[in-house]
Amino acid sequence: MFDPETFISEADRHLDIIDGKTIIACSGGVDSTAAAVLASRRLGDDLLAVFIDTGFMRKDEPEEVDALLTRMGVNHMIVDSSSIFYSRLESVCEPEAKRKIIGNVFIEEFERIANKWGAKFLIQGTIAPDWIESGGELRDVIKSHHNVGGLPEKFGLVLVEPLRDLYKDEVRQLARYLGCEVAERQPFPGPGLAIRIMGEATKESADIVREACHIVETELEKAASQNEMELPWQYFAVLLPVKTVGVHGDVRAYGYTVAVRAVQSIDGMTAAYSKIPHDVLERISIRITNTMGSRVNRVVYDVTNKPPGTIEWE
Ligand code: XMP
Repeated sequence: MFDPETFISEADRHLDIIDGKTIIACSGGVDSTAAAVLASRRLGDDLLAVFIDTGFMRKDEPEEVDALLTRMGVNHMIVDSSSIFYSRLESVCEPEAKRKIIGNVFIEEFERIANKWGAKFLIQGTIAPDWIESGGELRDVIKSHHNVGGLPEKFGLVLVEPLRDLYKDEVRQLARYLGCEVAERQPFPGPGLAIRIMGEATKESADIVREACHIVETELEKAASQNEMELPWQYFAVLLPVKTVGVHGDVRAYGYTVAVRAVQSIDGMTAAYSKIPHDVLERISIRITNTMGSRVNRVVYDVTNKPPGTIEWE
């Protein structure tokens, strides 16, 4: 059985190698926030938590993470790197290529900020499924998780990953123990909304999927709070590059398709699609097409388990 107190004393020993300024990649998700709070308790202002705004974050996320880290007393900065990410992803459609580019830009940005700040160490909130699914040794590469695949061979900072042996449910227990408000938050992938846009990830497509994800999140959270259903483990929207014919007002529309994905899982390694009531699905569909009718005119629901599907589509 996982015991947060025992884990913290063991993690403290891992952090022993740190003797100076340290930077941590903090997305505001459960993993990186737990890692930031854990490290901040030990390092104080020698730790700088950096939130990189990739342009593929959820609605209002940069502002919310800024407020969260302030409340948790973690020394931090928010960096808007969105224009670099958009330009480096131009014309790139292949999922692995997108993941590798995002990982590389992340590392470049961290190295730049770390050099400027004089840090020698980098902490990452990598957890076990991240590196298991990224391959290595005899494992097949299912997906290159950005916090693993982006590391260059010659890395200028010493990497410390205190959570790398934990699974998601254990990280949540740790986060709860540390008093992180995000302990119950659903997982969000490192590459962000870029891997929820099938094909080329642009600012325009990010704006569409950001709004669609927001609608899926708010509608499902509302339905769960009204006891219409159980809140899924993870739930979001995916933008497909498929255009279909519809009607918007009285005129012909030729717009994109959004897929809704919602799953039950324990640790993300396997998952079952959520049996969402049709009324709730209909509300999501109507709200998405009402909000973005000229751009999105069709909504579908993904009924695939993992395996054979993965949770994210890329
Ligand atoms: P998949 O899509 O592989 O996802 O079934 C399993 C869980 O991992 C999340 N995920 C990621 N998390 N970096 C992360 O930190 C990544 O690159 C990444 N890719 C997927 C996914 O959202 C799900 O919870």
